[in-house]
Amino acid sequence: MPRVPASQENVALAAEILRRGGVVAFPTETVYGLGADALNAEACARIFAVKRRPHFDPLIVHVRGIGDVGALTTAGDDPRLERLAAAFWPGPLTVVVPRRDIVPGIVTAGLETVAVRVPSHPVARALLEAAGCPIAAPSANPFGYISPTTADHVEQQIGAEVDLILDGGATPHGVESTIVDLSGAAPVLLRPGAVEAERIEAVLGLLVRPVRKEPVTAPGQLDSHYAPRTPLELLDGRAGPAAPGERAGLLAFRAPEPGVASTYARVEVLSPRGDLREAAARLFSCLHDLDGAGLSRIVAEPVPSEGLGVAILDRLGRAQAKRRV
Ligand code: TXA
Ligand code: MG
Repeated sequence: MPRVPASQENVALAAEILRRGGVVAFPTETVYGLGADALNAEACARIFAVKRRPHFDPLIVHVRGIGDVGALTTAGDDPRLERLAAAFWPGPLTVVVPRRDIVPGIVTAGLETVAVRVPSHPVARALLEAAGCPIAAPSANPFGYISPTTADHVEQQIGAEVDLILDGGATPHGVESTIVDLSGAAPVLLRPGAVEAERIEAVLGLLVRPVRKEPVTAPGQLDSHYAPRTPLELLDGRAGPAAPGERAGLLAFRAPEPGVASTYARVEVLSPRGDLREAAARLFSCLHDLDGAGLSRIVAEPVPSEGLGVAILDRLGRAQAKRRV
């Protein structure tokens, strides 16, 4: 079993594996990442193989701090980057900036930009320090499937194919980083995530929100993503009872009416007290549990479309899309 507790010794072991071109799963404050040395193209190729991820889907590069960013991008002195870094790093914000040639093409999927973030999770930070290289890391799930928020999720999905899993417990935010594209004149919100867009706009001014990007350069933007294997339907309002004899699952934001809940084979409540932060942290775990419960379908109730709710609704909307990839 390549799964070990994220002790200091094991972080050092993981760093050694990364320096030798291996792949290591590790916790971040958002979800578990599947990391490789970002400057080693061959090592990064293994990430794509393990995830069965298409090569048009670029990776996020994780670094220790703003001081590491100048080596990867020509935008090191972009005042917008400096303002965002001061406000949100370390933390769950990713910026897309023009890349330098040192970044391998496989990392950026041939794009002229690179996505960079500074994680705040102590294990991720310790690993970056010990490895001494930037770490390219997508979420540690098979392509298109639900993102992992525990070492269990990683082990069940790709455990046999990674060199090591650092177990640092459940990830605190539970949804991925917010991605802002700074490569053009106006900043663009590419993916809603753990930092609410409103907070970024308070620092940067209005963000452009693309309706749909063509061609798809960011798979976070593919319709079908974050998807359980069980068909999922995102409702407009509260769920009614399941059909008699049906083995359905219910993903509710707050506790459902007992009369409704009792008609479902399995019920997961994101946040009994209606807290979006708690709901985000539990989202992928609840989806994993429902997907493993042998259900014929899952119905999901919407969460309020504000703050973190926007990221949650984004993931649920993609979870319901028919798989096309
Ligand atoms: O919270 C997170 O961001 C997690 C943890 C592990 O850091 N990582 C993560 O990675 O969510 P991944 O690969 O699952 O999602 C990265 C997203 C993808 O949608 C990818 O297309 C986009 O970032 N991306 C990466 N580089 C990009 C670029 N140069 N331009 C546009 N989008 C980019
Ligand atoms: Mg992902």
